[in-house]
Amino acid sequence: MKSINVNIPGASYPVYIGSDIISQFADVFHRKTDAKQVAVISNPNVFKLYGQAIKKKLAGQAQVIDLIVPDGEKTKSAEYLQQLYTGLLENRFERKSCIIALGGGVIGDLAGYVAATYLRGINLVQMPTSLLAQVDSSIGGKVGINHPLGKNLIGAFKQPSFVFSDISFLKTLPAEEIRCGLGEIIKYGFIGDVNLFEYLEDNIDKALRADPLVMLHLVKVCSKQKAAIVEQDEKEGGLRMILNFGHTFGHALEAEFGYQKLKHGEAVILGMKCALNYAQLIKKMSIENYKRAISLLDRVPISYDKSKIKTDKLLERMYVDKKVVNENIRLILIDKIGSCKIEKGSDPALIKKAFEVLI
Ligand SMILES: NC(=O)c1ccc[n+]([C@@H]2O[C@H](COP(=O)([O-])OP(=O)(O)OC[C@H]3O[C@@H](n4cnc5c(N)ncnc54)[C@H](O)[C@@H]3O)[C@@H](O)[C@H]2O)c1
Ligand SMILES: [Zn+2]
Repeated sequence: MKSINVNIPGASYPVYIGSDIISQFADVFHRKTDAKQVAVISNPNVFKLYGQAIKKKLAGQAQVIDLIVPDGEKTKSAEYLQQLYTGLLENRFERKSCIIALGGGVIGDLAGYVAATYLRGINLVQMPTSLLAQVDSSIGGKVGINHPLGKNLIGAFKQPSFVFSDISFLKTLPAEEIRCGLGEIIKYGFIGDVNLFEYLEDNIDKALRADPLVMLHLVKVCSKQKAAIVEQDEKEGGLRMILNFGHTFGHALEAEFGYQKLKHGEAVILGMKCALNYAQLIKKMSIENYKRAISLLDRVPISYDKSKIKTDKLLERMYVDKKVVNENIRLILIDKIGSCKIEKGSDPALIKKAFEVLI
C-alpha cells in the first residue's frame, strides 16, 4: 500500500492507494480517528458490493450504522442532505463521530458536505469506489450539493482524515464509468503532465479495459498531481482553477443534455474538445498539438445526440455557471500539451464556435 501525503496547513492527510488493501482498513481507521460512532454513507449499488465488509471490519470497536441514499447525481440535493442529517440525529451522532463516504463522486460530495456541516463539522473518511472519485473528487476537500439552478453551487471545503483508494473496487465498475474517470485523467495530462499524456497515448486501450496495473499507475500519478495542486491552492484562489479545464464547457453540456443522459466525466471529455478548439481558434495552440490532443480524446468513445448541440443555449448555460466573474467567462486554455493558462477575457462568439467541434 502506497501513501501520498496532502500537505495542507492544519489539515494534512494521507491518501492510501493499493490493490486489495481492504484488509488494512480497520488498522488505518483506528490509527487516524478515535471515533466511536461511524456512519457509512453509500448508495444501494455500492453498499451491496462492499458495505457489509467494511462495517464488519469496524464492528466491535465502534457503533457502526449505514445511511443509504439512492444512486445518481440527483441525490446530491438538499432533500437527501436533510435525510442524512436526520439519520445522524436519530442515532445521536456527536462531534467526535465519523462519516465514511463509500462510493463515487456523488457520495463523496454529498457525504462530505454532511461531514462539513453536521454539528459544524465531524470527521470524514473518503473511500472512493469509482475511478473518477479515486483520481479526483476524493482528494482536495471540495464537497457540496447541486441546486436546481446549477451544479455544485452549494458547498464547503472539508478535508478528510484520510482517503482510502482500493483499486480492486474498480473491478465492478461499469465500462462507461471507467471512461468518465479517464476524462479527468486525460485532463491531468493536458494541464500539467506531458509524461502522463504520452503514457495514455500508449495505454488508453488497456485503460478502457480497466487493466489493474494501468489503473494503479494512473490513480497514483493523478492523486499525486491533484495533491500537489491542492497544496498550493486549497481554496481555489488561483492555481486550483486549472482543474476546471474542460469543465466550463462541460457543465453547460451536462445541464443541456440532462445529468442522466450525459455523465460528468463524459461531459468533461466533450468540454475539453471545445476548450482545445477555442485555444486553437484564438491561435493559442498549434494545429499539430490540437490534432494530437483531439485524437487521444477521440479514442474514448462517447455517444451523444449531436442535434442537441445548440450553441446559443449552451453559451447561455455557461453564464449561469459559477466560474463566471463579472459577466466574463473565464476559460482554462492549453497552450501546449502539459501546460495551461487561465484566460481572463473570452469572446462569446468564439465560445459558440468552439462548441461546433462536437457537431
Ligand atoms: N469534489 C470534487 O472535487 C469533484 C471533482 C470531480 C467531480 N466531482 C463530482 O463527482 C460526481 C461524479 O462522480 P462519479 O463519476 O464517481 O459518479 P457517481 O458517484 O454517480 O458514480 C458513478 C456510478 O458508478 C457506481 N459505482 C461507483 N463505484 C462502483 C463500484 N466500485 N462498482 C460498481 N459501481 C460503482 C455508482 O453507484 C454510480 O452509479 C459529480 O457529482 C461531480 O460533480 C467532484
Ligand atoms: Zn470534474
